[in-house]
Amino acid sequence: MTRALAWAQPARPQHLLPPTDGPSDAGATEQSSSVASAPLANEEVVVLDYGGQYAQLIARRIRELGVCSELLPHHVGVEEVARRKPKGLILSGGPASVFADGAPKLDSRLIELGIPVLGICYGMQMLANEMGGDVRAADHGEFGRTEIEVSDRGRLLAGQPAEQTCWMSHRDAVFTPPPGAKALASSPASPVAAFEDDARRVYAIQYHPEVVHTPYGQQVLKTFLEDICGCGTDWTPASIVAEQIERIRERVGDRRVVCGLSGGVDSSVAALLVYRAIGEQLTCVFVDHGLMRKNEGEQVVAAFRDHFGVPLVAVDAEERFLARLAGVSDPEAKRKAIGAEFIRVFEEEAEKLSGADFLVQGTLYSDVIESGGGTGASTIKSHHNVGGLPDDLEFELIEPLRTLFKDEVRAVGTELGLPDQMVWRQPFPGPGLAIRIVGGEATRERLEVLREADSILQEEIRAAGLYRDLWQSFCVLPDIRTVGVQGDERTYGNLVVIRAVTSEDAMTADWARLPYDLLERIASRMIGEISDVNRVALDITSKPPGTIEWE
Ligand code: XMP
Repeated sequence: MTRALAWAQPARPQHLLPPTDGPSDAGATEQSSSVASAPLANEEVVVLDYGGQYAQLIARRIRELGVCSELLPHHVGVEEVARRKPKGLILSGGPASVFADGAPKLDSRLIELGIPVLGICYGMQMLANEMGGDVRAADHGEFGRTEIEVSDRGRLLAGQPAEQTCWMSHRDAVFTPPPGAKALASSPASPVAAFEDDARRVYAIQYHPEVVHTPYGQQVLKTFLEDICGCGTDWTPASIVAEQIERIRERVGDRRVVCGLSGGVDSSVAALLVYRAIGEQLTCVFVDHGLMRKNEGEQVVAAFRDHFGVPLVAVDAEERFLARLAGVSDPEAKRKAIGAEFIRVFEEEAEKLSGADFLVQGTLYSDVIESGGGTGASTIKSHHNVGGLPDDLEFELIEPLRTLFKDEVRAVGTELGLPDQMVWRQPFPGPGLAIRIVGGEATRERLEVLREADSILQEEIRAAGLYRDLWQSFCVLPDIRTVGVQGDERTYGNLVVIRAVTSEDAMTADWARLPYDLLERIASRMIGEISDVNRVALDITSKPPGTIEWE
């Protein structure tokens, strides 16, 4: 149940570009000290993270119920929590035993704030321990699906069945609730599986309401938020859009803003949101490095300039990038060359737009949470920051998505009228197809072969209705040739490798079990339609041990 806690630290150079639709690639920024920032919304619920595997999920579930939630590290301090004036406070699960050395402790002043508190799993055990209940190691833990019996519904479990299933993950258990509190439920290994002290506004459950395996979990959260905390439920894509537009207008005034557009969902939604706020004071810069998928550059221009009417400078920089990539086969050298060239082109264009004070960046809430800690997730991703904009760039940042999770960004994109194809675009790496020509130079000819193969793959995956089920699907072109025979003739052609993975967040991934007949169709189309391809292979490596990309 352990998860590395990696909280945002201020002042890390931001990774703006090369543009990416990839997950969590944006680094922390000057403004990213989530701890010292303003509340995310006028009305919010704070989730304190005690290291639980599901802490982010709790925050997301709350938002699904129409309430803004903010996830903060447990050590943030009671003053910081109070400053936000939250309507409710949730204490997450965590990997520790309350009795372990160095286990996170509950600051009892949090209870005294008088804000309704819901403790989940470890959060419940801390509450019980702090308030004088009896917490002990049980004979055996409970992990996974568990039956509970509700003996007294109280306020928290109002309207729920007496017998139900839930998801547990604990070894210690509460044997007696704290004085003044009443037990609400029990399970085979948890004499007290839920308790509440309505007078002190303290509520607690041993199980995880945030996971789908707890059928009444969302109801627990809903009751807590609506009936106990009295939260309104109007945190919706429309309200987010309205609120952000107001904030951006206020901040920008009549000044000018520039935005690097990549065509990925994050930068697209961020750009559109800012455009809605300040119209023609925004200029988007789209650097077409010639390493995009087939027709993607044209689609970006068509959507933004032609359809939405956003002022857009589209720079056709293919020649420059290809020249920079000539003779470069090492993957990191490719990334660096592309990153450096990108900065150069972007700066040239930004300079032409005299007087822009702000730069739009598509930083997401998960970036804010995960960046900067230097451990776990963020370390693995750090190589993606190669090529970030230099520190001395004189822009103030506008990050309209920094309070949103990816699914919320998509919802906002839909709300803003962004076409489905862009809203649901799979992640695509900033260095583009160049890092999919493996072990060799990204030449115009190779890029052309790869682009054609990739376009067939995309077409077939979409036709099979699988595009949204896959985290990513793409082709790799290793710099080798293989022998084949076509129409009585010996061929010596390219090998195309199909890579398709499912994943939640790109930190781990499983190779996708694409249907055989689909694979066959893809392979025969590639070999039939692209003259220089004579072999197709399928990558069946998961991550770990592989990575998603080959380079
Ligand atoms: P790996 O290959 O490390 O990739 O499993 C994880 C995710 O990151 C994307 N990726 C990149 N994104 N610049 C980016 O913007 C890069 O250099 C880069 N390398 C990998 C990859 O596509 C996957 O989504």
